Amino acid sequence: MSKDRGQWSSRIGFIFAAAGSAIGLGNVWRFPYMAGQNGGAAFVFTYLICVMVIGLPVMLAELSLGRSTTRNPVGAIEAIKGNSLWRGVGILGVVTGVAILSYYAVIAGWTVGYMVSTAIGKELDFNAFVASPGTVIFYQALFMLLTILVVSGGVQGGIERWAKILMPLLLLLLVVLIIRSVTLKGSLAGIEFYLKPDFSKLDFNVVLQALGQAFFSLSLGMGLMITYGSYLSKEDNMVSAGLQVALFDTLIAIMAGFVIFPALFAVGENPAQGPGLVFVVLPKIFKAMPLGNFFGAAFFLLLAVAALTSTISLLEVPVAYFVDEKKWTRTKAVWILGLVTFLVGIPSALSLGASSIFTQINFSLIHQKGLLSIMDFIWGNFSLALGAFLLSIFVGWIWGGSKALAELRAGTGHFTWQGEGWLLIIKFICPIVIAIILLNLFL
Ligand code: TRP
Repeated sequence: MSKDRGQWSSRIGFIFAAAGSAIGLGNVWRFPYMAGQNGGAAFVFTYLICVMVIGLPVMLAELSLGRSTTRNPVGAIEAIKGNSLWRGVGILGVVTGVAILSYYAVIAGWTVGYMVSTAIGKELDFNAFVASPGTVIFYQALFMLLTILVVSGGVQGGIERWAKILMPLLLLLLVVLIIRSVTLKGSLAGIEFYLKPDFSKLDFNVVLQALGQAFFSLSLGMGLMITYGSYLSKEDNMVSAGLQVALFDTLIAIMAGFVIFPALFAVGENPAQGPGLVFVVLPKIFKAMPLGNFFGAAFFLLLAVAALTSTISLLEVPVAYFVDEKKWTRTKAVWILGLVTFLVGIPSALSLGASSIFTQINFSLIHQKGLLSIMDFIWGNFSLALGAFLLSIFVGWIWGGSKALAELRAGTGHFTWQGEGWLLIIKFICPIVIAIILLNLFL
């Protein structure tokens, strides 16, 4: 084993790191704007079903594959199936990691920009902010640099330490913001939008968005959980660890919705306005609070840290691949991949008004306009769902469900009938349901 590989110091270390990867902009930025665009409660309800029925089983599949092989996604597949076409699934994960990180760092940069401006009491106009090329690229570059510095520190030193301290603080601040939001005048309509499903709003497109969001939020479909699982020890109870991560992640997303939607309706904003949603609504909440600048700056700081524990995980997958398979040093892999990712992300950074080509570009098949939204759909929804589809077939049928199940049972007190249920889902339900939802995109 190369010295540039690592292991978690404890199971708690893994839970914090995996939760740190899962909890991020997906929960606070992406979930509310997707729910707002897709009919509110009907989306939320579908999302919860996707997390429980598809997301959690796929997470266990990735973790078992990772721990059993102790490799990155490409190496893990190779360890089982040799140099076959299946390696392509791992490669897809590596590419997807770079692609998601490229635009994710842009949004993460916005949070830093909002933190600074809130702290100094300057009110930002969202549209003007994202249309200024120098500003968005500056913050994007800053965020990539932070990510690079942490990832070059290695698994334990870098990733674990950050997640442990700041995640609990984020939870606390969310509670404060929920209280402020639901006590605003006119917030009730928002709670209704968020919780009372109108199923006539449900169609295949909404289901695809909800499924994609489940994978995105739980960090699934590109082998991140294979990679993080590979740093687990054989004595760890992966099943309960995975369950805790999924619960915690879902809790944060649901809480973020309780912050955004009541306030959104109280101030009469449009729920379907897209990626800028939380950046428009949050400052209004802070404005209506005593010590609003302080709470606002603290919130954007914690959100930036949550985003950082996610960006480091997105970079870790390609890094682990180049360290394990190509024998690069960690430092070399981190810097080269970080730089490439930054360059790939620049067009996305410019796609909210700074450059008209990237802003106007549209993809009619999926009704998305603007490069950032298109990238987010292709990589953050489609590619993750495709990856999860292929991984469930690989684990259930190629590796063999019984071997995966044995790996999951090691370190687990009981996973008897639940294990059989998991096997059934990973072999049949996951591939079939994901395939139907994906195919429908082209029909
Ligand atoms: N889950 C993170 C979020 O919700 C994003 C993320 C980090 C991710 N690592 C990932 C998504 C790996 C898919 C795969 O913000």
